[in-house]
Amino acid sequence: MADKHLDTILEESRRFSPPEQFTKDAHISSFAEYQKMYKKSIEDPQGFWDSVAKELHWYKKWDRVLDESGAPFYKWFVNGKTNITENCLDRHLNTATRNKAAIIWEGEPGEERVLTYWDLWYEVNKFAHALSRLGIKKGDRVAIYLPMIPELAVAMLACARVGAVHSVIFAGFSAESIRDRVLDSQARLVITADGGWRRGKVLPLKGIVDDGVKECDCVTDVIVIKRSPGEPFPCHFQEGRDHWYHDLMDVAFVPHQPEQVDSDDMLFLLYTSGTTGKPKGIIHTTGGYMVYTYHTTKHVFDLKAKDVYWCTADVGWVTGHSYIVYGPLANGATCVMYEGAPNTPDEGRFWKIVERYGVTVFYTAPTAIRAFMKWGDEWPKKYDLGSLRLLGTVGEPINPEAWMWYHEKIGNSRCPIVDTWWQTETGGILITPLPGATTTKPGSATFPYFGIDAAVLDGDSKETNAGLLAIRRPWPGMLHGIYGDPERYKATYWSKWDGMYFPGDGAKKDKDGYFWILGRVDDVVNVAGHRIGTAELESVFVEHKDVVESAVIGVAHDIKGQGLVAFVTLAGSVEGTPELQKELFQWVAKKIGKFALPEKIIFSADLPKTRSGKIMRRLLRDIAEGRALGNVTTLADASVVEELKNKYEEE
Ligand code: PRX
Repeated sequence: MADKHLDTILEESRRFSPPEQFTKDAHISSFAEYQKMYKKSIEDPQGFWDSVAKELHWYKKWDRVLDESGAPFYKWFVNGKTNITENCLDRHLNTATRNKAAIIWEGEPGEERVLTYWDLWYEVNKFAHALSRLGIKKGDRVAIYLPMIPELAVAMLACARVGAVHSVIFAGFSAESIRDRVLDSQARLVITADGGWRRGKVLPLKGIVDDGVKECDCVTDVIVIKRSPGEPFPCHFQEGRDHWYHDLMDVAFVPHQPEQVDSDDMLFLLYTSGTTGKPKGIIHTTGGYMVYTYHTTKHVFDLKAKDVYWCTADVGWVTGHSYIVYGPLANGATCVMYEGAPNTPDEGRFWKIVERYGVTVFYTAPTAIRAFMKWGDEWPKKYDLGSLRLLGTVGEPINPEAWMWYHEKIGNSRCPIVDTWWQTETGGILITPLPGATTTKPGSATFPYFGIDAAVLDGDSKETNAGLLAIRRPWPGMLHGIYGDPERYKATYWSKWDGMYFPGDGAKKDKDGYFWILGRVDDVVNVAGHRIGTAELESVFVEHKDVVESAVIGVAHDIKGQGLVAFVTLAGSVEGTPELQKELFQWVAKKIGKFALPEKIIFSADLPKTRSGKIMRRLLRDIAEGRALGNVTTLADASVVEELKNKYEEE
């Protein structure tokens, strides 16, 4: 993938300047202005972020902007006291934003709901009160497993209001993944729904939670939101532990005063895959994350009062946290939220939503764009997309061909595109064009955001044209550790170079200073914009009674960017039947979730290894992508790889 991508981008010579119409009203309206502000933010980052933070509400001002003494456990806005919901909700109530739509929601079956800022404030206050009555208090961890319904935002904000730490688990994860995350965070409460719609079917979320928390003694309460009016979807209710959301809300009071939390208090945990079998609970705290998501949302999406902003991500991933919930609400924006699949009931659904609500800013993933391309131009053509003024992408490198299609067919060749590079760990966007200022090149995330000292380095921390992406100093949105594992935090992110952050991505910087992100350089595969650790999947396979060894690799995939291929060695006499193959697919769905399913499972009597026993994944990738085999001289047994190659080609 990376090689192919590198070849294409090296040949890319197209340039797109911000259209005059856009530049005229943009918050940042020329490249010179960006450069001036960027210079200031790098020369005096503390002064820069100090003045941004002053735009927000604090109960007590910070003593210092940044404390580096405990590096890499940096502290931002030291001793400042705030509550993010004060900034996302209360702050807007005395302004014209009070009666403006905060969330315009559409369910997959077609229902519509609009919550104004006041409505959202009211719901969040009531739910915060209900949480307090259940005894949820500052620092408690709360797991949230919900479909894309407004109550997902309400639940997150209510946790934040009482100072509890939310841990949202994407509703595509399996019961066992819920269990692992709940146990790791020792969550007391789980918030779920009776069900949610996806591709015309109801996902039985409550049932999955019931299975997931069976072994979790830490869970004392489960709150269940009824997804639709009328009878709930069938689900089991455990007396004493389970509560209906609407019953709790019926007896809750407003206002519920926000907890005054410290800048450095945890806001949320979000689990993400790494290079070991165990997902990491990424810690985000309050002050820095709030300031950074507020500022990036405003400038990257050039948000104005009249915008109708739609980020199509699921709130279960970080994009939804930062750019559906916290960033847009802190800016008083109107956000569209859609529950279901882009091709239900047909492939025009997204464009129908854009037309229906007059979406002006649209933010999606390259994998979705490639699916739209495959479905055909006739779908967007059926709808009036004239309201759009800005497009964005996130989650994986975008191939120039998909970028051009997005530009022409969705943006009608007049909307700038912001290709935003960032990660769960970074909290917000770090490398991105600014739509009124940056001339874009298809496939490049262009330049670092304010205060971001990005570089492409070699292993010795020397700058190079093609190498590893590095962030050379802390930034406000940064993670504050891995839950329960400070050593892993230091080793994963801060040990490659002295005092610099290592994101795990390869990158190239061209002669004009543009950054081109090439993809992961570790054993993390980006499948349709979702991070999956190959080690995580391998350990799932070997947990199966019939499997003794497995190697999982990422391969290029037309729509998903990357897909997974699993090579599996079975125990002694076990035969690799199609039934067993099916069982192993189901096993992965059960252990992680369907989104982590490999494209192929190949049974192999042995795996290519070096003489010291290390699996040579490079050769497996060559086989899977149909290339001539690379250097095989270090193999312990060269026949293994030949056999495997023949078998793969047969299949
Ligand atoms: O490899 C990079 C890729 O996605 C990874 C982060 O994944 P995750 O934590 O799940 O967050 C995704 C949403 C922010 C990165 O290490 N990635 C993200 N955005 C881009 C990207 N790769 C290239 N270009 C991007 N714009």
